[in-house]
Amino acid sequence: MDLKHWVLETDAQNLAWLRFDRAGSATNTFSTEVLRELGRIADHLAAMPPKGLAILSAKENGFAAGADIDEFTKISSAEEAMAFTTLGNEVFDRIAALPFPTLAMIHGFCMGGGTELALACRYRIADDGAKTRMALPEVLIGIVPGWGGAKRLPALVGAAGALDLMLTGRGIDGRRAKKLGLVDAVTQKRHFENAVRMFLANPPPPHRPPLSAAMTGWPGVRSLVAFLSRKKVAQKARADHYPAPYAIVDLWKDFGGDVRNVPVDHPGSMASLFAHPTTRNLIRLFKLQDRMKALGKPAAGAPGEPEEAIEPIRHLHVIGAGAMGGDIAAWSALKGITVTLQDLSPDRIAPAVQRAHALYRKRLKQPHLVQAAFDRLIPDVRGDGVAKADLVIEAIVENAEIKRKLFAGLEPRMKPGAILASNTSSIPLQELSGVLRSPERLVGLHFFNPVAMMMLVEIVEGPQTSPAVMRAGQAFARQIDKLPLPCKSAPGFLVNRVLSPYLMEAMLMLDEGVPGETLDAAAKDFGMPMGPIELADMVGLDICWAVGQELARPGMPIPKKLQAAIEAKNLGKKTGKGFYTWVRGKPQKASGSGSVDLKPIADRLVIPALNEAVACLREKIVADADLCDAGVIFGTGFAPHRGGPISAIRERGKDSWLKTMAGLKAKHGERFEPDTGWDAI
Ligand code: NAI
Repeated sequence: MDLKHWVLETDAQNLAWLRFDRAGSATNTFSTEVLRELGRIADHLAAMPPKGLAILSAKENGFAAGADIDEFTKISSAEEAMAFTTLGNEVFDRIAALPFPTLAMIHGFCMGGGTELALACRYRIADDGAKTRMALPEVLIGIVPGWGGAKRLPALVGAAGALDLMLTGRGIDGRRAKKLGLVDAVTQKRHFENAVRMFLANPPPPHRPPLSAAMTGWPGVRSLVAFLSRKKVAQKARADHYPAPYAIVDLWKDFGGDVRNVPVDHPGSMASLFAHPTTRNLIRLFKLQDRMKALGKPAAGAPGEPEEAIEPIRHLHVIGAGAMGGDIAAWSALKGITVTLQDLSPDRIAPAVQRAHALYRKRLKQPHLVQAAFDRLIPDVRGDGVAKADLVIEAIVENAEIKRKLFAGLEPRMKPGAILASNTSSIPLQELSGVLRSPERLVGLHFFNPVAMMMLVEIVEGPQTSPAVMRAGQAFARQIDKLPLPCKSAPGFLVNRVLSPYLMEAMLMLDEGVPGETLDAAAKDFGMPMGPIELADMVGLDICWAVGQELARPGMPIPKKLQAAIEAKNLGKKTGKGFYTWVRGKPQKASGSGSVDLKPIADRLVIPALNEAVACLREKIVADADLCDAGVIFGTGFAPHRGGPISAIRERGKDSWLKTMAGLKAKHGERFEPDTGWDAI
């Protein structure tokens, strides 16, 4: 057969070995061409049946990453969307119908279409390694598992487990997949060939879910499970903001999990989902995430020249074991780096080490992996690690004078070529670099709190930072699985600068008597994951105050309730009381915001953030509107389904926002003056 993306071989025992090896790509994805070729292979094998078929990946990084997202984004009509969906279904159905045992051998990531192909096989075996991740993550880009996943997964493992995977999009490793029943066995990748031979020599009956799981598909039980699932979904996402999870429940309950059965005018049909702005925005965000990941790769060389070499960081030294430094150190050691952690005394390092241990137990589970990560994190009060480190990150108190003093003593002890980074959230790097002999090696690495949860790191470029050091900072962020966002060194960088006026506006509305609950409800109505009053309590009211004062635009009044709360030492969640009283980690809110119209409240809250995002673009704090949107979403959670602040402006229309702003300016003054950057949006 003439094949471009697949390699098919039949061995002496008449076993067929099919290797997925997408041409011209380091990652396997399913394009129309890839699917058509697989369809031809299925027809060929059906005509000349081998004893069995094993499907493997020839790529290092995994089995398959799902549908080709580039092809996906080019789909411009409901008909095209349906044609792509139907093709995938037909091809996988042909694999499922093969009259001999079929086995998917899974290593690395196995996402979306990859998992759906594996589900079309009779058996699945997964690599036991830490990198194995199986998922049906379609919901995260606003669609449903449309190539048979929503049909085959519930039949294989029962609806409860299947809906959980499909509605969260989360990935599971081989062991969890085995426990769930998604794979039949786990073994190490190097034993794959043996495992195939053993399985096919004596094929066991295909996996069936236990009765309790199978019952979830029975008609009466199915309605109940669907009702409970919708209820759970509704607690997290509104149907008008995120239709896909609702579509998944309907698809399973009413249409046998097969998208071809869904009427085209149903809100959960592929055509409706593709036409929904949320899907467009989520797909864009997914691609932007890839773009940010690529920022961590070495720059391509000039034609004929090799790409530049960026050495990975092997030894990191962190100074300051507080909330940030301690967690940056713990996270980096989790990701495989040797880390020395310095503070003024051992008792200041101890809490960070304790938190690290809890993090490793939660993330790594297996005791030997927990121990190995723990061994990489080394308390170092004397600072012996400075001389060995490839990168030193400073995360001590936010005080320029103290940081300068530290830098002056630090630099002569650092290795030649090592990078010095500051986690400062507000001090311009140029105020710190004066004491250095090599100021070009100073870069900002601005992490967000809590470090383990927040994907974004702002990589801050001072006027003195060298381009190579910027790229090394970006590469380090990728090395520890974060998303790098290059920013210029100006107060607040991007994220705090956009977030702060939004929080301050909420405080002023509180002073006007709007209840916190109403403000939070309005922000959530717009699509924020959490309202501003709850968020301020979480961040800490003292920190909000400090950042707010520093970044305030002219004419910004002082928020009085915020001031009073701080004077009373009610600093938010950390003291048990802020604007809300916090009980067992939860704010106690009065229920219901009554019949108030939330939209004008949300507009007033959001406009200062939009205005600041526009100003950041004008000042080139970040390179372009895409990175601005992605940074604000990954740094603050800003309504992902709206695609970020600049996308939200474009979606509703610049003129509409400016009109609202004019009204607000007339009422509340200069802080609602549109930035001059609006002209260019
Ligand atoms: P923190 O107060 O929790 O920790 C600071 C630590 O530095 C303390 O343990 C202190 O003992 C230690 N320290 C002070 N001077 C030292 C010195 N000369 N040598 C060694 N250790 C020293 O502070 P936090 O919140 O961790 O902030 C640290 C830095 O990170 C600041 O620059 C802050 O602006 C920045 N930042 C803070 C964020 C937050 O949410 N807390 C978010 C992003 C950045």
